[in-house]
Amino acid sequence: MPGLAVIGHPVAHSRSPAMQTAALTALGLAGEWTYGAIDLAPGEFEAEVAALAAEGEYRGVNVTIPHKEAALAVADEVDPVAREIGAANTLAFADGVISAFNTDAPGLRRALRANPDGRRALVLGAGGAARAAIWALHSAGAVVEIWNRTESRAAAVVEEMDVPHARVVTDPDPGAYGLIVNTTSVGLHGEDPFAELPLDPDQLAERVVVDMVYAEGPSTLSQVAAERGAAVVDGLEILVQQGACSLAIWLGEAKLEPEVVDAMRAAAYGDTPPIA
Ligand code: ATR
Repeated sequence: MPGLAVIGHPVAHSRSPAMQTAALTALGLAGEWTYGAIDLAPGEFEAEVAALAAEGEYRGVNVTIPHKEAALAVADEVDPVAREIGAANTLAFADGVISAFNTDAPGLRRALRANPDGRRALVLGAGGAARAAIWALHSAGAVVEIWNRTESRAAAVVEEMDVPHARVVTDPDPGAYGLIVNTTSVGLHGEDPFAELPLDPDQLAERVVVDMVYAEGPSTLSQVAAERGAAVVDGLEILVQQGACSLAIWLGEAKLEPEVVDAMRAAAYGDTPPIA
């Protein structure tokens, strides 16, 4: 039976197995394909992935924290988007060859209902999630500005990535952006986003606010932004869309039908409905 899985450390909390199994069920493939979870410590990742690819049962994996950079390193072939972002979240195995992709960027692009072309966008953060967001927004025609608590990291990201017109900002005016994307971990452990990030609740109306962080239930930022009249895209919707893009890599683009994505969304959200 062809296998798929998510690899992370820890991985027990991942919603990907439920979400991807729902997709396989919606496609009528649940008896044929499986999607599980594999917990690998950083030291085990490369050897185990090489073994999975060589053995032939697994056709691919999603890769999550902390392995997204190692996933790039273990691959024989790297998609240009993953290369540019510097991280891979999807591996496909065929005849022992490992191919790496990044679906966080196209997933974010699909999750955005608005077209970012020509908009001014503020990305908060400078880690791997920020790089995916910067790539997604830049390639869709947005003018990207990046703020990070540690400014030098933001500067390094702009320097390393091929994103003409992107620039670092130290004191952004949140009212100046049509689109604001939080890629920092603020909110994950109860931090106040309006204390830690350069955001003002009074300046969120009529903007698109994306919070890539997801925990149990909607984040404070998503909740407040929705209350203040922003169009909110939450981290779970991005998870759903990146998962759908990964599925398309393994099974073919034709499988990416709206009913399949709806089934994934229902499984990912469980009892907590989307905020907007
Ligand atoms: P990932 O690769 O998942 O994006 P990461 O590399 O650990 O994760 O980055 C986490 C991001 O959250 C960083 O931009 C970090 O800012 P620093 O570079 O200054 O560390 C940001 N972050 C974490 N806690 C924060 C806080 N309390 N306030 C502001 N930014 C914070």
